[in-house]
Amino acid sequence: MDELRTKYIDAIAAAADEAALEELRVQAVGKKGEVSLKMRELGKMTPEERQVAGPALNALKNEINSALAAKKVALADAALDARLATEWLDVTLPARNRRVGTIHPISQVTEEVTAIFADMGFAVAEGPQIETDWYNFDALNIPGHHPARAEMDTFYTHRAEGDERPPHVLRTHTSPVQIRSMEKTGAPIRIICPGRVYRADYDQTHTPMFHQVEGLALGKDISMANLKWVLEEFFSAFFGTEVKTRFRASHFPFTEPSAEVDIQCSWEGGTVKVGEGDDWLEVLGSGMVHPKVLEAGGIDPNEYQGFAFGIGIDRLAMLKYGIPDLRAFFDSDLRWLRHYGFASLDQPTLHGGLNR
Ligand code: DAH
Repeated sequence: MDELRTKYIDAIAAAADEAALEELRVQAVGKKGEVSLKMRELGKMTPEERQVAGPALNALKNEINSALAAKKVALADAALDARLATEWLDVTLPARNRRVGTIHPISQVTEEVTAIFADMGFAVAEGPQIETDWYNFDALNIPGHHPARAEMDTFYTHRAEGDERPPHVLRTHTSPVQIRSMEKTGAPIRIICPGRVYRADYDQTHTPMFHQVEGLALGKDISMANLKWVLEEFFSAFFGTEVKTRFRASHFPFTEPSAEVDIQCSWEGGTVKVGEGDDWLEVLGSGMVHPKVLEAGGIDPNEYQGFAFGIGIDRLAMLKYGIPDLRAFFDSDLRWLRHYGFASLDQPTLHGGLNR
C-alpha cells in the first residue's frame, strides 16, 4: 500500500497536463485500477484482516482522489497564468490617430432644408422608395397613357411571367408621399418630404438616383401667395441672402395652376452666384394641388385647398457649395468626400446661419 501511495502521489505531482492526470486516475482508482483491484481482494480476507485493510484502502483511495483534484486546479491556474502573461493589453497606451469621417453635402443640405421648413411649421414625412404605380402616378393624376410616365424614364421592377399586376416602380419623385401623408393625417397638413428618387438618366447634371424635397400645405384658405412667401423665405434663409424668385406658368398633372420657379443668379467666370445679377436658374416645380389629387388622398376638394412643391436637393447643394459635377456626389471618392464633406459637429441651425 505504501508503495502504491508513493507511486501515485509522486506521479500526480509530476503530471504535466490534464490528459496525463486522467490517465493516472484510470490507472489508480478507475474500475480496473490498481487500488480498485486491491479492494476486490478484501472479500478473500479474514474479517480481522479486512478490518485493518478496508479502512486503509479507503483512505488511500481518498488521498489519491484529493491529490488528483488539487493537481487539476493547480494545472488550470498555471494555464490561466500563462495565458494572462501572453495576452496582456496596455489599456493606458494613447489611441492611434484616426481620420474622422465627414457629413456628405446631401445630408448636410437635407438637414439645412429641414431646419428651415421646421421653423415655418412643416413636419417631415416619409414614404417608400419602391412604390406602387398607383401612388407614383395614378393618384397624382398621371393616368396610364399620360406622356409624363414616359418622360420620367421610370425604373420598373420585374414581375414573374403571367403575373398581370402592374409592376412596382422606383419612385420617380417624392410626390407620392403627398398622397400617403394625406391618407395618414388628413387636412389641414403641412409637411415636407426629403428623400431619394430614381430615373434612368446620366450626365453632368443627372444621376440615376438623386434627391428631392417635396412640400405640401393644405388648409381652408391657403393660396398661391402663401406658396410664394414660403419659397422666398426658404431660399433667403438657405442661401443666407435675399433671393428673388420668378414664377413661370408651367404644367404638372398634379397641380392647377402650376408654376416653375427660378431663382435670381449671376454667371461670372463660369461660376454661378445666387441672389445677385439678372440671370435665372430653375430650381423647382410647384402649384396648387389638383382637386383629383386631393380626392385620391381622401380629402374633399370643396373644403380644402393648398400648394405643393418639389425641389431638387442635389441642385441646391451644387449651387450653395459650388460643386460643379453631380456625378461625383455618388462616386464615394474619399478625396472628394474629405474636400466637400462637413465636420460632424457642424449641425446646421438657423441661429448659426446654417452654412459654416
Ligand atoms: N414631382 C415633380 C418632378 O419630379 C416636381 C413637382 C412639381 C412637385 C410640382 C410638386 C409640384 O409637388 O407641385 O418633376
